[in-house]
Parts: sequence; C-alpha cells; structure tokens
Amino acid sequence: MPVPPNNCTDSPRPAPTAAENGASFDPGYLAAKKSIDDRALNRLVWAELCQALPQTTAVKPANIMEIGAGIGTMLTRMVDWGLLTGPVTYLATDRDAVHLRQARHHLAAWADGHGYSWYWSGDQRGLLVTAHAEISLVLEQACAEELALRTETTGTLHLLIAHAVLDLINLAAVLPGLLAQLTPNGLAYLTCNFDGSTLFLPEYPGGMEQEILGRYHASMETRLTGASHTGRRLLHFLQRPGLELLAAGSSDWVVHARNEAYSADESLFLHAMIATVEQELTGKSGPAPAGLATWARTRHRQIEAGTLSLLVRNLDFLARRRPPLP
Ligand SMILES: C[S@@+](CC[C@H](N)C(=O)[O-])C[C@H]1O[C@@H](n2cnc3c(N)ncnc32)[C@H](O)[C@@H]1O
Repeated sequence: MPVPPNNCTDSPRPAPTAAENGASFDPGYLAAKKSIDDRALNRLVWAELCQALPQTTAVKPANIMEIGAGIGTMLTRMVDWGLLTGPVTYLATDRDAVHLRQARHHLAAWADGHGYSWYWSGDQRGLLVTAHAEISLVLEQACAEELALRTETTGTLHLLIAHAVLDLINLAAVLPGLLAQLTPNGLAYLTCNFDGSTLFLPEYPGGMEQEILGRYHASMETRLTGASHTGRRLLHFLQRPGLELLAAGSSDWVVHARNEAYSADESLFLHAMIATVEQELTGKSGPAPAGLATWARTRHRQIEAGTLSLLVRNLDFLARRRPPLP
C-alpha cells in the first residue's frame, strides 16, 4: 500500500500525520477496512493462533505487542473473537500519533457499545475489563524499526502482531529484531500481507488498467524493494532456522455488490482504493499514465452504480520462535 517515504529511520523528524499519509491511512479508511479484513482473515491461521496462544502463555498474563496498530481494530477483533481471555498486557504501537489518538476514541466507543469498562490513566494507558478478559493497554508512538532495536524487552513477548503493515517495513532489516522480542515458543501473527495482485472488475476496455496497476505496484517497489510481494517473501522468511511456520493461508480482500449496493464500509474502502492508486501515480515518478483521471472517474462511478468488484491478494501467517537447543 503506497505511502510517503518511511521516515521512522531518520528520527528525530516527526512522524507523518494521517493527512500526509494520504487516503490509504485516513482513520475513517482504517475503520471501514475492519469489516473487509474480518471477512478476509484466514480462519485456519486464526484457529491455529487460538490453539497455540494459551500454550505459549501458560498461566502468565499474555504479553502482546502490535506494530502499526492504526486505530486499534485488531485489539477489538481479538476480544470480539474470543482470543483474549484472562489477564493480558497489550502494547499497541504505531509511528503515527494521530492514529493512536484516534485509537483511544475508537476503543472507547467500541467498549461502550459492548458494555465493557475502560479505566484510563492518562492518554496512553488504559485497563479494559470484559466478562472474560482484563487487558492492560499501552498506546505508544513508536516505529517498528525502533522497537526492533529495544534490548530491554528482548525475549519477553508471547505474541507479536503485524496486520496490513509489513509491506511498509524493510523485512530483512527489521523482522529479526522484532522476532527476538518473543519468548521461546512466542508467536508472530502476521496478517494481510499484500502479495502482488490487484484486480478490478468489470474489465476496463483498452488494456490501460494493466499499465495503471503495473505502475501502482511498481511504485511500492520504488518505495521499498520487495514490498509488492511481501506475502511470498514472508512465506520464505518465516521458515528460516529458529522459527517454525505453524500456519499460512490466503486472506484476500474480495469486495462485490449485493443488489447493486455495498455496505457503507465497502463503498468507502473501494473509493479509497481508487483514490490511492490515482494519487500514487499523479505527480510522482514521471508523468501519470494517459487516461488515469478517466479511469478513476469511471471506477468511482461504477462504485456508485454498484457494479465494481475488487480482488486483492494477501497472505496470513502464524510462526513460532523455536526455543534454543538444550
Ligand atoms: C495500512 S495501515 C494498517 C493499520 C492497522 N494495522 C489496520 O489494519 O487497521 C498501516 C499502519 O502502519 C503504520 N506504519 C507505517 N510504517 C510504520 C513503521 N515503520 N513503524 C510502525 N508503524 C508504521 C501506519 O501509521 C499505519 O497506521
């Protein structure tokens, strides 16, 4: 997913705001994406996580860290889907402070809607109490690059989560450090990793869309080599010595109309996808492809008419850190 250059590595420059991040990372887009992701997440990988996590944490509080947490939708999912029970510590991190401020509002509204209690102490710390779980939450503005270098937390995490973010991160440089934060048998749940294919239907006449989407994927590569094939790169990476790949599977985004209409989330998500492609190819890396604006207008109109379908290939993974040999 295209974004401005990652400036996490050259701190102390401030992290980009949501507006600078473009339509893709607008908090409204992240909220809408939640229901698309809910459908897409691979249920076999999820089931493996549900089975493995209690074994990994045993009787201790589960110690969880999420990178690129956005507005906190993965935490809500993990509670709603019954994964998190008992005492849990959850460190939700993101490079964007705007998203984390939004997370607090999003989580408060979600908890209200479900009758859960939040006890906040300051802006960044909260205790969520549900019928089944007691979750100590910390919201921290931090880049994955920086978290990977932390030594004080090495070997302490039961679960690392990265959802729809690893295509923005230099895997080879950052993932080893993040995985080193895991306890022996600690788990990495790495989901919705883009894997090189975006398809809109009905077919756009003239073959022009092929060039547009080709340039769109190429722009990801310009930002970060390998980004447009993050899914398959992880499939290989997670089988290196010291790791055990417990489960892998597709988590494609598939959006289509029913009775020529989409849910509000689907409609927002589709418009944002078209806007992202157009924005990415406008005024960057040479002249925009001929007919880009017409393409975007046509696709936006098809959303209004309930005739556009979208298929984006993603992959999910669950890996375990092997304990050292005795
Ligand atoms: C596509 S959004 C996904 C957010 C959330 N995981 C979700 O699915 O709703 C990517 C998120 O990663 C964050 N991000 C991008 N690069 C990052 C980095 N290097 N370190 C930490 N967070 C990063 C962005 O600010 C954004 O919130």
